[in-house]
Amino acid sequence: MEVVAPVPPVTRVPTTRRYLMCPPRYFAVNYSINPWMDPSQPVSAERALAQWTELRDTYRRLGHTVEEIEPRPGLPDMVFAANSGTVIDGRVLGSRFRAEQRAAEAEHFRRWFVEHGYRDVVMPTKINEAEGDFAWTGRELLAGTGFRTDPEAHAEAQEVLGVPVVSLRLTDPRYYHLDTALFVLAEATDTTRAQIAYYPDAFSPGSRRVLARLFPDAVLADADDAACFGLNGVSDGRNVVLPLEATTLAARLADRGYVPYHVDISELRKAGGGPKCCTLEIRK
Ligand code: ARG
Repeated sequence: MEVVAPVPPVTRVPTTRRYLMCPPRYFAVNYSINPWMDPSQPVSAERALAQWTELRDTYRRLGHTVEEIEPRPGLPDMVFAANSGTVIDGRVLGSRFRAEQRAAEAEHFRRWFVEHGYRDVVMPTKINEAEGDFAWTGRELLAGTGFRTDPEAHAEAQEVLGVPVVSLRLTDPRYYHLDTALFVLAEATDTTRAQIAYYPDAFSPGSRRVLARLFPDAVLADADDAACFGLNGVSDGRNVVLPLEATTLAARLADRGYVPYHVDISELRKAGGGPKCCTLEIRK
């Protein structure tokens, strides 16, 4: 009998992160700006806050720093902090929302950055939903368009942040932000390329080819993992925070040496959000 020794998984090295989050004290679904939001369904702000608190505490247990911004009444989606800024090397590119219902969030976040000592804060002139549509690989900024962020905002981000931008087209309305269809597992280093996970069917054929070319060793997610917001994960290079239901994806990640941590985001998903949507990363 032939015995094949299992290949030991690579040891992944985490790096400590700094996140900005907004507690969902005024959480509600009272308008619909994506296919997940159904204002006729009951929503519990209390349950949303409990799930959010568990997410925040998971980050803290993993050794990350979590800053909090005060939520505002009348802005039920403010919990989705990822949509309010893209921060690379301490440079902040704020946001400009497509939906009028969320427009006022941008200014609250701009003020937070200014009050916390960020000198280089630029507000975009084009529709720009920040990390909802921008994913930093350590080498380039992957940028989604198709539903929210204007393609011209990609050029603006490249100019303001001074990083190369790769435009990707989203085609499935359920995956209306890039961060619902793709996330970075491990950033690029001087000698290695970044590793990402994504759901190919959420992208146009050309964008799929771009992703396959740039990330030949990506972890591909299936339809079920995408539908539970499994691609809305948050990785520190080793530990990956994922929705409870993303079981196939979690197994694939474990095979590659990552350690999955599951959180219940069922209440937040009613607004079309998951772990990453709640999490704006502040990169010094
Ligand atoms: N209800 C919010 C919206 O449609 C959800 C935002 C989710 N955020 C994200 N980064 N995908 O704008």
